[in-house]
Amino acid sequence: MSKPTVFVTRLIPEKGLDMLREQCAVTVWEDELPPPRDALLREIAGADGLLCLLTDPVDAGVIDAAPKLRVISQMAVGFDNIDIPAATGRGIPVGHTPGVLTGTTADFAFALLMAAARRISEAERFARAGRWKTWGPTLFMGQDVHGATLGIVGMGRIGQAMARRARGFDMRILYTDPSEPDAARDVGAVRVALDDLLAESDFVSLHVPLTADTERLIDRRALARMKPTAILVNTARGPVVDQAALYDALVSGQIAYAALDVTDPEPIAPDDPLLSLDNCLVVPHIASSSVATRTRMAVMAAENLIAGLNGDRLPHCANPQVYA
Ligand code: GLV
Repeated sequence: MSKPTVFVTRLIPEKGLDMLREQCAVTVWEDELPPPRDALLREIAGADGLLCLLTDPVDAGVIDAAPKLRVISQMAVGFDNIDIPAATGRGIPVGHTPGVLTGTTADFAFALLMAAARRISEAERFARAGRWKTWGPTLFMGQDVHGATLGIVGMGRIGQAMARRARGFDMRILYTDPSEPDAARDVGAVRVALDDLLAESDFVSLHVPLTADTERLIDRRALARMKPTAILVNTARGPVVDQAALYDALVSGQIAYAALDVTDPEPIAPDDPLLSLDNCLVVPHIASSSVATRTRMAVMAAENLIAGLNGDRLPHCANPQVYA
């Protein structure tokens, strides 16, 4: 029997590719950049399986272009780039990689929080530029993390991991979420309305998926409720924040600082005004990027894909309704 054919939209950690190559005929898009739409449509036309990334818009047109497609496996926990109803309508399960990146992503969100609080990237640029003349009594005064109030928007796995880290820093923790997870109570986190969280928090960290409900959740009105000393951390998805409003809030001093792992669009344009601000730290969507975690994500994506090709239930399925 011939091996199923699989298209992988970028070079992923080798361990995942090796697993796929044992069982499938694999085509890998080896460019640094994602396949353009015409290439994706061409490559997927005869594929039984697709292993994709959050940079690949897998919309209904792409799914329609793949008559043999039996499984889509995304190497990420978020899957807002995939038209889930279209995949479900075709009976195609969609895999994703929850859990394995929780700690790594929360570590990074906390690193961004601390970097913004203590102005680390500004200070590093200053030192590299040869501007460090003496110990300065007011040089790069930042904000304390310990004892401050952290507002966590979205108390899912990553939000909870963020709360555990905050607990170690003696922070007061507020959160918003549709549910009240036991894990939140265990760390003393208090559920409040979003408006109260925004008004009371020294740090606001976003951990919601991108959906119609969370798009532009942090808009002009939300930013206006925040403290002038507040720091916004976004490791969720760029469109959760209204970026034009964020720029205005940072320039006018309505909030103090933002630390962004995600932007809208990605990549952020080199001439985006946010990049001109000292009080905005931007990094290129790397929160889950540790060697161990990206390798685990590749393996998990390969496992999901292989399960789908074998007709087995995906271990981590984003659209379990496909099995109903
Ligand atoms: C990264 O942003 C992910 O969704 O895994």
